[in-house]
Amino acid sequence: MEKAPFIKTKLPGPKSIEFIEYSEKYEPRSMSEQVPIVWKRAFGAEIEDVDGNLFIDFTSGVLVTNIGHCHPKYVEEMKKQAEELYNCYDFVTPWRTLLAKKLVEITPDNLGKAFILTTGSETIEAAIKLARRYKSGYEIISFYGAFHGRTYGGMSVGGKMNVKKGFGPTIPGTIHVSFPYCYRCAYDKTFPDCEYWCFQALDWAVETQSTGEIAAMITEPYQGGAGSIIPPPGYLKKLENWCKEHNVLFILDEVQSSFGRTGYMFALERENLRPNLLCLGKGIGSGVPLSALVGETEIMNVLEPGSMSSTYGGNPLSARAGIVAIDIIEKENLVQNSAKVGEHMLNRFKEIQKKCKILGDVRGQGLVLGLEIVSDKKTKEPSSALTKKIINECYQKGLVLIAPIGFYGNVIRIAPPLVISQELADKGVDILEDVLMKIDK
Ligand SMILES: Cc1ncc(COP(=O)(O)O)c(C=O)c1O
Repeated sequence: MEKAPFIKTKLPGPKSIEFIEYSEKYEPRSMSEQVPIVWKRAFGAEIEDVDGNLFIDFTSGVLVTNIGHCHPKYVEEMKKQAEELYNCYDFVTPWRTLLAKKLVEITPDNLGKAFILTTGSETIEAAIKLARRYKSGYEIISFYGAFHGRTYGGMSVGGKMNVKKGFGPTIPGTIHVSFPYCYRCAYDKTFPDCEYWCFQALDWAVETQSTGEIAAMITEPYQGGAGSIIPPPGYLKKLENWCKEHNVLFILDEVQSSFGRTGYMFALERENLRPNLLCLGKGIGSGVPLSALVGETEIMNVLEPGSMSSTYGGNPLSARAGIVAIDIIEKENLVQNSAKVGEHMLNRFKEIQKKCKILGDVRGQGLVLGLEIVSDKKTKEPSSALTKKIINECYQKGLVLIAPIGFYGNVIRIAPPLVISQELADKGVDILEDVLMKIDK
């Protein structure tokens, strides 16, 4: 029985304050600034802080715990594995091979091998290296606003300064082009009248910036960090075709969008995409560090023994977590729940948008939604100050949201675990509605 929200102390509570002080003193301030909840434990879509307050979770960590926090079946399997084996480097284990087999089975049939790794960024690095080796070219096309992680390759193909500031130079050969952010079109056009004008801009970018040695294009199916920006229908398939026509590998970064998050097992299913390389992370392990690069056999086969591996990649604990998480997603129909509850939430936010002057745009697919906060709906002036205020006030009422995202820091990201019930989701939306309407006055 869900009990959140239940707030019994002033927030943050006394124990939380103690740990926040330790964090400020002993940890770098490099991490994103979140509301001051100090997590103690979590179940399903509810979090308990160290002071015993209960919150609704609209974060899933950062879109990680797709099967819900501490799912009993997952906990049981992790306990069993903890008594058997943690690490054996590149030596073969049943769990790693079974996970690779499963990933190949559930992804598009052009993909034949899965390289099991640890973090999302690691899959991006591996994809860039592999594309360069396979194509004997070095340029990578990516997008304004893109987020592909914080390692050097990931940061370089990323399209936002906050991740790169002061860390240059980035890796050579990255070409950035605009992503279709239709609410704020870079070319002041409107879909569908624009007839996908961005492709004209893409051709110009290549014509003016490339040395003719393009290895790959990398994109997210929707841009997460840039503000849950969903491209118009048909765009991604056109992009895939563009890559084919230009003999360039198509790398799809589904680190965030996979394992039910968008109401499909993989976001690529929406347009029947067939990327040459597919990056997976976050929800694949639903808590433990686990990621995978799934690719076409011919491409994966250019790697000779010893050319790429990772100390923790495919360790038996994480690999078993992946098998169990996928099994839970399939058996408990979490993809369907994501689509159903996500649509319900989207409709509710669209209703709220009609009466709320600061809710500029509402968008979402499955259980990943973005609310774009503006000070004026006509001018679309972004307001990061109001966005922070809304997130803080929701925390005070027992709803946890991730810090603002977006080009202008004015997007509220909503991404609860996929097990969330409609009732609990509604309680969270009620809190957001109250706060939005209060601040709107
Ligand atoms: C689309 C995308 N790619 C890559 C990454 C990097 O993943 P990690 O933080 O696990 O390295 C993220 C993380 O947020 C992401 O959202």
